[in-house]
Amino acid sequence: MEEKLDPSLPCCRHLLSAILAMEPSECLISHARACGGGSITDQVQQFIWDHCLSAPGDFHAPYLKNFLKKLITQVEFDHGCVLDHLYELYALYMTSSKDDSLVKRGARICKRISFPFPDGCSELQSCPQSRVLEFSLQCSLNMLEGDTGCSIWPSSLFLSELILSHPELFSNKSCFEIGSGVGLVGLCLAHVKASKVILSDGDLSTLANMKSNLELNHLNVEADLPERNKNPSTVKCLYLPWESASESELQDIMPDVVLGADVIYDPVCLPHLVRVLSILLNQMNLGFCRQPASCKDPSLNIEHENVAYIACVIRNIETFNYFLSLGEQANLHIVDLTDSLKPVNLLCYMHSYNQASVKLLRITFRNIQ
Ligand SMILES: C[S@@+](CC[C@H](N)C(=O)[O-])C[C@H]1O[C@@H](n2cnc3c(N)ncnc32)[C@H](O)[C@@H]1O
Repeated sequence: MEEKLDPSLPCCRHLLSAILAMEPSECLISHARACGGGSITDQVQQFIWDHCLSAPGDFHAPYLKNFLKKLITQVEFDHGCVLDHLYELYALYMTSSKDDSLVKRGARICKRISFPFPDGCSELQSCPQSRVLEFSLQCSLNMLEGDTGCSIWPSSLFLSELILSHPELFSNKSCFEIGSGVGLVGLCLAHVKASKVILSDGDLSTLANMKSNLELNHLNVEADLPERNKNPSTVKCLYLPWESASESELQDIMPDVVLGADVIYDPVCLPHLVRVLSILLNQMNLGFCRQPASCKDPSLNIEHENVAYIACVIRNIETFNYFLSLGEQANLHIVDLTDSLKPVNLLCYMHSYNQASVKLLRITFRNIQ
C-alpha cells in the first residue's frame, strides 16, 4: 500500500488551509493537483478523506458537496480512479436535501483563516511557535444584500498580513478600527499585543457577529465606551456610524493608530468618513494627547503623531479620487505606501486573495502652523 501523504508538507498544509478557509473549489483542485505532482492520485484523495471528509464536523456541508463534485469530475476527467468512499459520500450528499437549506439568505458559515509563516519569519514577534496562526470567523455566505460587514474583504486580509509582518507599528499602541466587519484585524491586533484594541461598525448585525467572532477566538469583549486602562486584554466593540459619531465621542477614543479596511466605496458615506478621520487624527493638534507613554515629551506632546492605515481595493477610480479630494480639503496628508510597506505574503494558499490588488494609504493630519 502507498504511504500516506505527510500533512506537514507545504503543499498538504496549503490544501488543508484552503479547505478550512472555504476557498473556491478551483483553488482546492489546484492544491490537490500540486499534492499529487500534477494529478489527484489515490494518495491525495485518501488525504482529503482522512483530514476533511471522514469526519466533516463543523464543515459546511454544501461547500464540501460542491468540492466533492469537482474533485470526482476532475479525477474522472484524468481517467483516474475515484476512491469508493468519496463516491459513497457524494451519493449521500445528493440524496440529502437538508444541507442545501443552509445556503439560505442570512445563513452563517464558519471559515478558519490560517496564516502560515514562511521560512525566515520565525524571528517576527507575531510568529507563533507552531508557525501557524489560525482564527475562526463566522461569516455570511452573501457578500451583499445587507451582509457586507459579515464577509471577509481582501483589505482586511491585507491589513492582517501587515499587522503580523510589522508588529512594531501596532504593539503597545492603542488601535482603533473603523468599519471592522467580521473582526479579523482586531484579532491580529490583539495577537501582536496592541495596548488597546477598539473595533467599531455602523451596522448592528455586523457588530453582533463581530463580538461573537472575538469570543469564538477567546477574547474578552467589552461593549461600552472604554474606561482608560481597564483591562488591556479586552477588545472593545463600538456601534459607530460615521454619520452620527460626535466629536466628543471620537475624542474620547484617543487612539495612536486608526485602521480601516475596504471602507472607501460608498461616495455618500465618504464626507462622514473623512470627518471621522480628521477628528481622530487631529486630536494631537487640539492638545488632546492623553497618553504620555507614546509621547516623547508629554508636556509638549512632541513626536506623537496619530496615524491611520487604510487599505483599499480601488473598484471605482472616481470614488477613490473623491476620497482623496475630500481628504485634501480636510487637511489630511495621504501617502500611498503600497510600494514601500509590503507585508509578507502569509496567505499564499488563498487563491481568491491577491495581495497586489490592495492599496495601502498612510494618513496623518497636515499640521498647518
Ligand atoms: C466592505 S465592508 C469591510 C469590512 C471589513 N473591514 C473587511 O475589510 O473585511 C465595509 C464595512 O464598513 C461598515 N460601514 C459602511 N458604512 C459605514 C458607516 N457609514 N458607518 C460605519 N460603518 C460603516 C460596514 O458595516 C462594513 O462592516
